[in-house]
Amino acid sequence: MHPDSPEFQAYQAILAGHQELKALLERIDQVLAARSSGIGEACHLLAQLGDQLVKHFALEEREGYFEEAVLHAPQLVAKVNRLLAQHPKMCTQAQSLVAEATTRSGHQDWWDTTRTLFLSFREELLRHERAEDRLLQEAYNLDIGSHD
Ligand SMILES: [Fe+2]
Ligand SMILES: [Fe+2]
Repeated sequence: MHPDSPEFQAYQAILAGHQELKALLERIDQVLAARSSGIGEACHLLAQLGDQLVKHFALEEREGYFEEAVLHAPQLVAKVNRLLAQHPKMCTQAQSLVAEATTRSGHQDWWDTTRTLFLSFREELLRHERAEDRLLQEAYNLDIGSHD
């Protein structure tokens, strides 16, 4: 992949999106673990995560943007499609996490329950993102190899 090529740009944009998501997940984790904000602010961060996810997934789905990154590795397209198919479920989960956190804001166990829900969602999301990182890395290596 040439650094100026659209494939490389797509590859970089997806990786950058993963870094941003990871940073936000880290921040939310810290807030929920240390209870270092009000519940309203924590709900706001969870809503921000939901919005950021929608945008990130839209980028990956946009006109085969992800396929662009694996353009020279057609054997990976089935894997890409499997990963993209996980997006709707994770969007729904993120939305219900926000809804749950918002409607339960008066509950005494709010911090514990919200953190438990968040951690299980984070695990699934990070698994998805890691699989994508591996896939992009694989595509990139294959591409480098094909120009030897
Ligand atoms: Fe994805
Ligand atoms: Fe992703």
